Amino acid sequence: MGAAAHLGIKQGEYDRAIATLIPHYSELLDGAAAAVDAVARLTPAVVDLGTGSGTLAQRILKVRPKARLIGIDADATMLAAASKRLRGKIQTIEENFEDILIPRCDVVSASFSLHHIPTGRRKAAVYKRCFAALRPGGMFVSADCYLAANKPMQKRHRDAWLAHLKKHHSARKAETFLRTWAREDVYFTLDREVELLKEAGFSVEVTFRRDSFAVIAGLR
Ligand SMILES: C[S@@+](CC[C@H](N)C(=O)[O-])C[C@H]1O[C@@H](n2cnc3c(N)ncnc32)[C@H](O)[C@@H]1O
Repeated sequence: MGAAAHLGIKQGEYDRAIATLIPHYSELLDGAAAAVDAVARLTPAVVDLGTGSGTLAQRILKVRPKARLIGIDADATMLAAASKRLRGKIQTIEENFEDILIPRCDVVSASFSLHHIPTGRRKAAVYKRCFAALRPGGMFVSADCYLAANKPMQKRHRDAWLAHLKKHHSARKAETFLRTWAREDVYFTLDREVELLKEAGFSVEVTFRRDSFAVIAGLR
């Protein structure tokens, strides 16, 4: 299934629709890009997993204008949008990021793509491959939904997400979005994600947290 169909929106509407679906979307991506400033190299190779239409890659280019960008995504339509957005300043690879050998790099980034990995075991494997691909001093950074540690906080966060959706969509559609994504996407607690990254070898910081959304950065 393509990215737009998965989100329940029409192809071509992604860039307009995404901020109506994800609260704090812009802040989260800005936060992920800002974290890249901690990478010393001024000409880093950046591999963006599930790059989609290249929104995070574009922000990283503002922080490191001489970065060499590589966007990996399974959806050719999204990659075409990324190439257009970045006017060719991104090398695109149409592949499953769980299978591909991640190229040697200084940054592995991701935004709202790694929740497509269905199990903790497979996520741990991806994190280990990210660590292996990174040069010493390199960074893994991901912006995504990470669950709270307990049920009452998880409920508060779900209510906040629902309230955001209802600002832009009918109440019925908002509920349907969350129910559908809950069946298709896999979210772990923030604590578990930090643990998985530490197990892969990273030194981990949570650089942004709002409701169930966060930016996690791991230094190699
Ligand atoms: C919700 S979109 C996020 C896109 C972009 N990073 C953003 O922040 O707007 C998720 C993207 O991950 C891609 N994706 C999901 N699972 C993938 C996989 N296993 N391999 C490659 N791409 C994948 C989808 O095709 C889609 O473009």
